[in-house]
Amino acid sequence: MAFNNIIMRAAITCVAGYVPDDLLTNADLAEMVDTNDEWIKSRTGISQRHILKDPTKATSDMGAEAVKTLCEKRGIDPSEIDVIITATVTPDMLFPSTANLIAHKVGATKAWGFDLSAACSGFLFALTTGSQFIQNGTYKKVVVVGADKMSTIVDYTDRTTCVLFGDGAGAVLLEASEDEENGIVDHIHYCDGEGANYLRQAGGGSLNPASHETVDKKMHFLYQDGKPVFKAAVTGMADVSYEIMERNGLTGNDVAWLVPHQANLRIIDATQRRMGIDKDKVMINIQDYGNTTAATIPLCLRDWETKLNKGDNLILAAFGGGFTWGSIYLKWAYDTKS
Ligand SMILES: CC(C)(COP(=O)(O)OP(=O)(O)OC[C@H]1O[C@@H](n2cnc3c(N)ncnc32)[C@H](O)[C@@H]1OP(=O)(O)O)[C@@H](O)C(=O)NCCC(=O)NCCS
Repeated sequence: MAFNNIIMRAAITCVAGYVPDDLLTNADLAEMVDTNDEWIKSRTGISQRHILKDPTKATSDMGAEAVKTLCEKRGIDPSEIDVIITATVTPDMLFPSTANLIAHKVGATKAWGFDLSAACSGFLFALTTGSQFIQNGTYKKVVVVGADKMSTIVDYTDRTTCVLFGDGAGAVLLEASEDEENGIVDHIHYCDGEGANYLRQAGGGSLNPASHETVDKKMHFLYQDGKPVFKAAVTGMADVSYEIMERNGLTGNDVAWLVPHQANLRIIDATQRRMGIDKDKVMINIQDYGNTTAATIPLCLRDWETKLNKGDNLILAAFGGGFTWGSIYLKWAYDTKS
């Protein structure tokens, strides 16, 4: 359902991101497990990932870097932030929330915040959640962070998953749109708990609290059965992207950019074909970062920011563990060129 009772439209007014300096290349991985650069590139599109090696630094540190940059770019003091919503599946700890820690680290002294868990769809779910506070007039400045230190839950002896993931963080500022036209127009989100059979991190929660047994069974690592996830992701991301275009009367020609979650280049290609848009309208940076889970979409927005024009129609789309999936249609609200 499109938003009907909107007081004002929420718009992204600034984007920022952070990736750690250390790289994990395909050549590095080939020395750790039985794989090679050719297989990884042709099956996933990934060449390298950024890894936060410092064991004293966690997801909140990357998120805080992104939020500090965001505030500097927008010229605001962190104390002006009303709420921080952090999408992550690798929180620093189960509580307090990563958002709470980020607020402390950046000096967002007047903000409250919370984490949202929806794996690779986390940023989109958080963006929709945050936009409600702007649309109903409750708050002026909402920060949405997508951040994951995936290297802490990846099993680097499992070649089928360790090649896929990297670490990083992205953040956007949501404010009321300056005009009626631009900002977040529509969203569609889904989840299906059946997906837990194929993609999950089972250890450490209330079902399987940490024990010697959960460690021995590697239950604190991400588990993925790649084939069914791939099948569901191709269908889910392509269908939901097409669905949001159709109900907003958009054709492929109307869409300026597809901003897809970066899990696998072949999933992105399938979505682009289903939407009927040209390949050069698709943001792709998977080769440099791998799958950074909640951070992929804001990192794309950061990397493409200077190419975006006010009024551009953007379709954001994601599929992730759980399963969770969804799309957001927004009209870009600012020019960086001017
Ligand atoms: C993981 C994934 C890349 C595997 O690609 P795939 O084309 O499905 O590969 P398969 O699983 O069919 O494996 C093909 C072969 O490559 C092998 N293989 C798997 N990983 C490998 C690697 N890193 N290097 C070399 N060979 C590998 C497999 O063992 C298999 O060998 P076999 O045929 O002898 O059994 C793919 O399934 C995928 O992207 N899944 C979804 C990922 C995703 O979107 N996850 C998160 C959702 S957000």
